Amino acid sequence: MNAATALPRLSEITMTRFRLPEKKSQWYELRGEVYKLRGGDVDWIHGAFFNHWPDPSRNIWPQAMVISDIFFSDQWLGKYNVESTNVILKEVEDMVFDILGAPEGGFVSLTNGGTESISLAVKTARDWARAERPNVKNPKIVAPYSAHPAFNKAAHFFGLEVVRVPLTDDWHTDVEAMDAAIDDDTIFIVGSTPCWPHGRIDPIEEIGELAEKCGLWLHVDACVGGFLLPFYEQIGEKLPTWDFRVPAVMSMSADLHKFGFTPVGMSSVTFRDEALRKHLVFEFTDWPTGPYATESLLGTRAARNAAACWATMKYLGRQGYLELAQSMRDTTDRFVNGLEEIGDLAVLSEQAGLLVITSPTLDIFAVSKALNQGGLAHGVIRQPPGLHFTITPLEDWGPLDLMLEGIAKAVDDAKSGRVVADDTAGSYM
Ligand SMILES: Cc1ncc(COP(=O)(O)O)c(C=O)c1O
Repeated sequence: MNAATALPRLSEITMTRFRLPEKKSQWYELRGEVYKLRGGDVDWIHGAFFNHWPDPSRNIWPQAMVISDIFFSDQWLGKYNVESTNVILKEVEDMVFDILGAPEGGFVSLTNGGTESISLAVKTARDWARAERPNVKNPKIVAPYSAHPAFNKAAHFFGLEVVRVPLTDDWHTDVEAMDAAIDDDTIFIVGSTPCWPHGRIDPIEEIGELAEKCGLWLHVDACVGGFLLPFYEQIGEKLPTWDFRVPAVMSMSADLHKFGFTPVGMSSVTFRDEALRKHLVFEFTDWPTGPYATESLLGTRAARNAAACWATMKYLGRQGYLELAQSMRDTTDRFVNGLEEIGDLAVLSEQAGLLVITSPTLDIFAVSKALNQGGLAHGVIRQPPGLHFTITPLEDWGPLDLMLEGIAKAVDDAKSGRVVADDTAGSYM
């Protein structure tokens, strides 16, 4: 990190417009340049920091990379796919279906990220409502305040309105308040497993009852937990029922590139019923090339993402996912125990791969600032003021012990007044 001072920073170069070089470059020069730039980055990839989607480590991605390179510039666009890509996609879809326990008669569509998965669920539900509830002219989504902004983004693109319902005083989703927020235009209701800010699993069964009572489409945003919670259950974690076992759940977004441990660029959206596919697909024929149909927001996509995902999932198998789940649990437990020993901190949640902590006694943003000064990357939330960590399944305790030492020092710095918060505390940008 400290080498960063010697490197060009974005803030320094934004005033000059970079131009296409007149001459060709040498590969060795480009490699040199990129290694120099990378030298200034936080080392996300190697599990040493707790605010990035984890690498499963254990030498898995270098092997997956070899396989994805075989598809380096292949495209993934329906009828233009080569047959090998089709087979890979089908196998990934089926593995997703299996892991998520999707109901027979349902289907999976693969996307490039959680926002795309959520957007496609919203679009499908909108078109379903146009067919099934034609009286609704201004369709609305009712979501807990803690739901991901992707719902607002999708609503913005697809012409829906979002009502974000305040949480309870202790930051839980308030199902009664959601009930009160539903009106005749509401078509879609959301629960997250877990939500990003607080890391808590929403009460999907209760939200499901509400959805059934009001005839709504219930979407479960399992972007974070979709590929962790099934394995947590199998290693004996007691979790509320959060998935398609709740009959009202119509769709679920689940990101492979989060706790599916696959490289970035893969997510999924699963639907309860094949009959809904017609509302997902975008079809068009009125141009010179003839029929065009996609189930994604993107057109041409990179087949190498799917190949890397396929390789990682098949390599891991159920056994590998269970081992990673156990490692996540062990890392979380050691993290929580370490925090208890430090004191002055309170765990808001540690249930589903995210660890969120507040402080009843200290300005947590001062703790955050001290951590930043020590080069320890972490996330921050504002409501309530807290620190936000993404758990990484560690192979040895070194990185966690380093983080705990850093937190102990940061707490001490905040307590003694050596470090005082300023107004730079985190945001999602
Ligand atoms: C709960 C939740 N939903 C959706 C998303 C959006 O996922 P992506 O950033 O892959 O689009 C995120 C991202 O962190 C998330 O935490």
